[in-house]
Amino acid sequence: MDPDTWPTRCDPNQLESAILNLTINARDAMPAGGRLTLATANVQLPSTQVGPDEFLAPGDYVKVTVGDTGTGMPQDVIERAFDPFFTTKPIGQGTGLGLSMVYGFARQSGGFATIDSRIGEGTRVSLLLPRFEGEDLPGPLVQPLAEVVAGRGETIVVVEDDDVVRTLATEALRGLGYDVHAAATGAEGVRLLNALGPVDLLLSDIGLPGGMSGKQLADAARASRPQLKVILITGYAQEAIAGGLLAQRIELLRKPVLIDVLLRKVQDVLKSA
Ligand SMILES: Nc1ncnc2c1ncn2[C@@H]1O[C@H](COP(=O)(O)OP(=O)(O)OP(=O)(O)O)[C@@H](O)[C@H]1O
Ligand SMILES: [Mg+2]
Repeated sequence: MDPDTWPTRCDPNQLESAILNLTINARDAMPAGGRLTLATANVQLPSTQVGPDEFLAPGDYVKVTVGDTGTGMPQDVIERAFDPFFTTKPIGQGTGLGLSMVYGFARQSGGFATIDSRIGEGTRVSLLLPRFEGEDLPGPLVQPLAEVVAGRGETIVVVEDDDVVRTLATEALRGLGYDVHAAATGAEGVRLLNALGPVDLLLSDIGLPGGMSGKQLADAARASRPQLKVILITGYAQEAIAGGLLAQRIELLRKPVLIDVLLRKVQDVLKSA
């Protein structure tokens, strides 16, 4: 990282999730290993065309680049990579939303994103974010986690198939002092629960691949741990089956999940009798 990187102003959670998305793409592009690079740089841009009739103001930008030495992308993939739902990954492995979210975040922050890729050599995806020119830096845009008290090593099992959400939730909970074990499917979650001693909380997505839903996982887990605390993450489409869960002492979190809302919910549920 360039220590003299200019300040920029954007949502730090979204920036983190963008970098994580790019890092996971880089990992996927290097199945046999390779080199992942993260770099920042200050750049001065002339007026830049970012859409058919869209131009970005000339000026100072902070460039954040994630690079890999992986497969690279053919021209037709580069052209469509930022499109929502465009993916070359097998069904069930990619939703094709990663790069479109990265691009949306960059545009919404007053910047843009670029792809520089060569087949067999690798890929660099860069976010260009406008330099923040104010005198003093404003406070953080996101409320600090003031009331979130650190965990005391409580054991939490996280089951989520989305790599980005699972990694963010796991890291954030670990950072607060919880003992976190993560799985990507219901079956993996069952194995984890069987292998672990006492578990304080199960945090699971409702919609999981592989035939077992988060609700079924919770029921299976409660068969042997009737007191287990459960938080299920629901998407809009699953709202209908969520009815009645509260009666079963199952807490719900609605997607998209904001990390600080998640941390607060975990804390509340662990505190509850
Ligand atoms: N670093 C990279 N190297 C090679 N190809 C890439 C790279 N990043 C993205 N791609 C290509 O662009 C496509 C779209 O990427 P995007 O992140 O939007 O979706 P995805 O990774 O397929 O799925 P998701 O991110 O939703 O899990 C990928 O399927 C892949 O073909
Ligand atoms: Mg991706």
